Amino acid sequence: MSNGLNAKVALVTGGTGGIGSAICIKLAQAGCKVVSTYTNETQAKAWQATMAEAGYDIALVKCDVSSFDECKAMGEQLNADFGGVDVLVNNAGITKDGTFRKMGPEQWNAVINVNLVSVFNVTKQFVDGMMSKGWGRVINISSINGQKGQFGQTNYAAAKAGMHGFSMSLAQETAKKGVTVNSISPGYIGTEMVMAIPEEVRNQIVAQIPIGRLGKPEEIAALVTFLASEDGAFITGANIAANGGQHMC
Ligand code: CAA
Repeated sequence: MSNGLNAKVALVTGGTGGIGSAICIKLAQAGCKVVSTYTNETQAKAWQATMAEAGYDIALVKCDVSSFDECKAMGEQLNADFGGVDVLVNNAGITKDGTFRKMGPEQWNAVINVNLVSVFNVTKQFVDGMMSKGWGRVINISSINGQKGQFGQTNYAAAKAGMHGFSMSLAQETAKKGVTVNSISPGYIGTEMVMAIPEEVRNQIVAQIPIGRLGKPEEIAALVTFLASEDGAFITGANIAANGGQHMC
């Protein structure tokens, strides 16, 4: 039975990263034409070659998602080359952790701009197209720490909580036109971002996860693909947690 994703165009921001790569692969396996944004050309080209060796033909588009102008140019290019984007996964994100007392404006602004302002910048380019086609999916990769807060992450938690406020509001504006908007809140997933946490701190975090391990990028990618598929059509404005039981609400 068709999942409704065959030949749909999917854009994954930050698709070359840990969770992003798994999302690109799962959406490609589901039949999508997948495009990923990148900022570092050398790293992105190497990633694309590895994907191609594994049998996945992923297109790349250069874009700093924190820049509205770059997102506008990307939107024009993808709308011309692919006739728009059907599935948008706002996945690009960074951390710059530090206690609030030690945090400067650079740490605050960088995290808010890359994680939250980007969601406006990118989504703005494709929602009109989705609504005129009468079908679309916007999936925002938020975080457990946007739900519960985290010592050392006032910047990141504010951005991630903001993403879900955005999802609920846009979901109401687009529901009648076949466009769903949802957030996913992953817990601690075994990616470079989480492995960068000092080992002692990370071990304490893992000890708080009832399932007893870090999550896998594929477990987030599976959820993205479900929300993107026809089976996910009745889910909109939701924030779905995948955190091994670390936070329940
Ligand atoms: N709750 C209460 N107190 C805490 C605490 C916590 N969770 N963590 C640390 N403290 C206390 C320490 O015990 C210490 O107390 P004393 O001064 O009395 O000894 C004090 O706060 C300072 O702690 P640190 O020495 O750790 O402070 P630091 O400035 O060196 O580092 C930090 C602070 C950078 C925030 C560091 O604690 C850290 O990296 N924490 C992990 C943050 C985290 O979980 N980030 C998630 C990244 S992954 C991600 O974001 C993906 C996702 O979506 C889940």
